[in-house]
Amino acid sequence: MSDLLVPAIATILDQQDETPDTRTYRLRFRDDAQAERFDFQPGQFLELSVFGAGEAPFCLASSPTRRGTIEVTVRRTGRVTDALAALGPGDEVGLRGPCGNGFDVTAAEGHDLVFVGGGIGLPPLRGLIWNVLDRREAFGNVTILYGARTPSLLVYKQELHEWGARADVEVRITVDRAEPGWTGTVGMVPVLFDQVDLKPQSSLAYVCGPPIMISFVIQDLLARGFAPERIISTLERMMQCGVGKCNHCCVGSKYLCRDGPVFNFREIREMWE
Ligand SMILES: Cc1cc2nc3c(=O)[nH]c(=O)nc-3n(C[C@H](O)[C@H](O)[C@H](O)COP(=O)(O)OP(=O)(O)OC[C@H]3O[C@@H](n4cnc5c(N)ncnc54)[C@H](O)[C@@H]3O)c2cc1C
Ligand code: FES
Repeated sequence: MSDLLVPAIATILDQQDETPDTRTYRLRFRDDAQAERFDFQPGQFLELSVFGAGEAPFCLASSPTRRGTIEVTVRRTGRVTDALAALGPGDEVGLRGPCGNGFDVTAAEGHDLVFVGGGIGLPPLRGLIWNVLDRREAFGNVTILYGARTPSLLVYKQELHEWGARADVEVRITVDRAEPGWTGTVGMVPVLFDQVDLKPQSSLAYVCGPPIMISFVIQDLLARGFAPERIISTLERMMQCGVGKCNHCCVGSKYLCRDGPVFNFREIREMWE
């Protein structure tokens, strides 16, 4: 997008309910040239405006390797997300972005990759996972570990099934609380570490989810021998402008919207010191 301060109009093409309060939207810029030109890094985010309701940041949940449309997965939490939930295919929204730094996909080439997601933390990882799977030969082992509070709160169920069926991807899922019919693992996300062969020296771990889950997962990865630089996460703060102008998202000398939201754990530690 040429001007990060001016929203461009995009149309909702279709939508998919993930959980009772979370929905994935597939969007396309109204301007065809812009739709084909739009490029981003997984981990970057958009400022999405619902006209008359306001604007909020959402990470790009699709992969830049699949051009023409973009996807966001949104949980209803308030004014903007409620208004978005009332829209449907054919309706229009405003988009500013891509904002932020994103994951460095080139630097990940040749490494084993471990994706660790919790709840609504899977969307930023989903774009990266698709990017990696679309260029599978460029990467080592791919392991996806995902947990939610209950089975009905797991997002991307169909894709988790597809990824798990591939011979070149290892998928493990857990829930905090089982529901009738669930025969899988029960426990917090770190229980999955014992089910896979983690290789701390050759792996990069990408961790996204609620802050408490990120904290436990990172402590566990460090204890298992991962260097802080090999643990990569996304930080969220209340944001407004999304482009380093309004001061809403400062932590120390960093603007999370511009310098982040993606940081490795060494950078995260330095930020809080
Ligand atoms: C970089 C970034 C990427 C994000 N990506 C996604 C995404 O992919 N999907 C998604 O559903 N949400 C995402 N969010 C969170 C989303 O932007 C907020 O939930 C947003 O406030 C929703 O707007 P609202 O008007 O519906 O809710 P509001 O009326 O603004 O607030 C709802 C509640 O959420 C709290 N809140 C607002 N922002 C945050 C935040 N950043 N962290 C924790 N609590 C917050 C508010 O205090 C309030 O209690 C992201 C946030 C950031 C900063
Ligand atoms: S959201 Fe405005 S400076 Fe980051």
